[in-house]
This record gives sequence, C-alpha cells and structure tokens, in this order.
Amino acid sequence: MKKRENFGSRAAVIMAMAGSAIGLGNIWRFPYLTGQNGGAAFILIYIAFTLLLSLPIFLAESAIGRQSGTNSRSAIAALIPGQAGRGLGLLTVITPLWIVSYYSVVGGWSLDYLVQACRFTFIHTPPEQLTGSFEAFIGRTWVPMICHLCFLLVTVVIVAFGVKGGIEKFSKFCIPVLFLLVVLITVYSLSLPGASKGVEYLVKPDFSKVTGHTFIDALGQSFYSLSLGMGIIITYSSYVSKEENLMVAGVGTSVCDLLFAYLAGFAIMPAVFAAGIAPGSGPGLIFDTLPFIFSEMGQQLPVVSSIAAILFFLTILFAALTSSVSLIEVGVAFLTETRKISRRKACFWLFLLCGALGTLASLSFGPLSEVQLFGGNLFDFADSFASNVLLVAGGFLVVILAGWIMPRETLFAELTNNGTKQLNVKLFPFVYFLIRFVAPLGIAAMIISLVL
Ligand code: PFF
Repeated sequence: MKKRENFGSRAAVIMAMAGSAIGLGNIWRFPYLTGQNGGAAFILIYIAFTLLLSLPIFLAESAIGRQSGTNSRSAIAALIPGQAGRGLGLLTVITPLWIVSYYSVVGGWSLDYLVQACRFTFIHTPPEQLTGSFEAFIGRTWVPMICHLCFLLVTVVIVAFGVKGGIEKFSKFCIPVLFLLVVLITVYSLSLPGASKGVEYLVKPDFSKVTGHTFIDALGQSFYSLSLGMGIIITYSSYVSKEENLMVAGVGTSVCDLLFAYLAGFAIMPAVFAAGIAPGSGPGLIFDTLPFIFSEMGQQLPVVSSIAAILFFLTILFAALTSSVSLIEVGVAFLTETRKISRRKACFWLFLLCGALGTLASLSFGPLSEVQLFGGNLFDFADSFASNVLLVAGGFLVVILAGWIMPRETLFAELTNNGTKQLNVKLFPFVYFLIRFVAPLGIAAMIISLVL
C-alpha cells in the first residue's frame, strides 16, 4: 500500500492549519458579526470562547486525528463501534462538503471583485453609482455561477497535487503573504478620513449591546473560524508526525487565527465608518463598503486606491482558497482511503458534487430566489444549517469522544507526546477538564439557547 503522506515540518503543520482556519470567516463573517453585535464587547467574548472552548476542542480533534492516522470517518468509526460510529463519522465528511459548496460561491464573488479591481472598475465608477451593485451582481445568473465553479476548480486542482505538494506548499506561501497583505490594507484603511471611529468601535467595549445572541454568535464564529466540528482538524492532524507537539500547533493556529481576525477588523471597520455604512448591515458588508471606499479614494488617489483594491480582493481570495482546500481534503481523504480511488478521481467527483450544490446556492440570489427554506433562500439555509446545526453537532461529538470515550491515557499520550513534553504534562489536567466538562456544557448551553 502507498505510504500515507505527512506534513514536512512544524511550520508546515501550523501554516496548513492556519490556512484552514484563516478564511472568509475572518475577513467576511467576523467583521459583519462584530458589526451586528456592537463591536469590541463581541470581540472580547469571542476571544474568551476561542481560548476556553474552541482551543480545547481543537486539541481534542488533533488528538483523535493523529492517533487514528486516517480519514475522519474511519477515525470516528474506530472509537464508536458499529453502524453508529460509521454514521456519525460520515457526518464529519458530509459537513465540510456541504460547506464548501456554498463557501466557494462567496469565493467566486471575491474572484469577480478581484477581476473588477484589476480592470479599475471601482475607481472609474462614481461612489453613488455603486449603491446596490453587490445585490445586482449576486442576483445575476451566469457570472457568479461561473466564478463559483472557477474557484472550486482551483481548489480541487491544489488538492489533487497532494498533502505535501499541494496543500502544504500553497499554505506555506499564502499565510505569510496574507499577513503582509492585511497589514498593508490596515495601513490604507487607517489613513481614511473618519477612520478613528472604526478604531474606537474595535477597542472600546460597549457591554450594553450584548444580548444572549451575542454569545451564540461568538461561539458559532469561533467554531467556524477554527474549522471545528467537522473532519478538518481530524484529517489534517492525521498527517502530523508523532514527534510534533500538538499543543504548540493548536495554540499557534488559534493565535494566528485570532490575530488575523482582529487585523481584518482594523482593515475593514475604519473603512465602514469612513463610508458611512451601518456596521450591522450584514453579510454584504465588505462587498458593499470596500468598492465604495476605493471609488471615493480613487477620485483623488487613483493609483493608491487601485493597488489597495487589488490587494484587498487578492487577500480574500487567497484566504478563501487555503480554507476551501481543507474543506475538500476531508472528502478526498475519505474517498481515497475507504473507496480506494485515486486522489485525482476523488477530486473530480467532489468537484461535480459540490459544483452542483453550490450552483443552487449561487442561483438562490437570482432565478431561484423564490425558493425559500425556513425563512431564507437556499444559500441562507445552507449557511445557517451548517453553522448552527452541523458544526455544533460535530463539535459536541468530538468532545464527547475525546473526553468520555477515548481512554484518558491515549489523550494524554497524544497531547504530551507520551509524557515527554514537560509543559504539556503540567497543562494536561486543565486541558482535560476543559475538554471533558467545560466544552460539552458550553456546547449544550448553545444548543439549548438555539432551541428555545
Ligand atoms: N475556518 C475557515 C473560515 O473561517 O473561513 C473555513 C471554514 C470552516 C468555513 C468551517 C466554514 C466552516 F463552517
């Protein structure tokens, strides 16, 4: 049998995991959720949830993944015998495929906006004519659909090159570039007139805006952003060598993810305030705000503004790609290991499946907008079902597995490298307590509040 691939180094592990974590969740979702939940107070709650709940879940998933050394379905089936284990394991494969189908629709939007930025469209259009242009764009039939399929095609091509040759190489290149790009955009954004209001919004917490929903959104976002509750971290960790320190990889990934989200906040919020757009205006926030800013600035500083526009949409595109790659890899690992088909064939079939599902999501803003499910269009349904149901169920499954089914010694061995990492040994009882009690209770509280 062909030897399973592993990531080549610690840097590669952290870059690939950070690549999965840093994505549209940080640049597209985090700013609009922050805007809807009153700014800095939301961010504080989000950071607390990430450190106390999501990071332990991340470690639980890493331990399960590395211990199993296989795809997420088989990893879970090894812990729960029989049909139930296979069924639950399959859930961790279906979830990322479900998500990547509509995720690549948003990836497609950023591709189109990058093309527009390269053609200087925003700079040549007066700001007032841009109002409503995002809604008009996503309501079209062909262009968003073709962009979605192009984005998905690039994703599967990268995955087809394998764990080392594709995912690792791409992430190692992208992550440093992404940080550089987001810092450049932040500098640009902070130079806009009226930017200070945006900064204040991100640093001064106003707890009067906090409601029960803020907590749900913060926990959901923290799961979403760290790619938890589905097979991603299990699958990626199965490619991590036994010598690697999983706690360091987990903390490294979480810190990169938090830092990037906060930086993205500084790149976007000052622009939102400078444009006079309501921070709570929802999912269209960045696509509405940024072209407006590029157009306005473009009247006086066309060159700077054009470069900023290109850099901005390039950042979104790269970030989205490193994440979509991880979403597809879960299905590829499953198909190659359980159905014994080649990586290339698996990529081909997943392209067809997710391409078709995503096309429905793409058309749901245009020709299929009449089709409503639970009060939203197909895209909204796909997103809320994934974030509120599938991720939560998957997260709960993982902590129960790691905290209550996997023997304590196995978890200990994985998270401390058989007791050889002294600091990990000291931290283990606390981490175990978080995995066993705090995380399941936190998720249960979230489920109850969603149902009520
Ligand atoms: N963590 C990535 C992001 O924040 O964009 C990828 C991702 C994972 C997206 C899980 C959505 C999701 F449900």
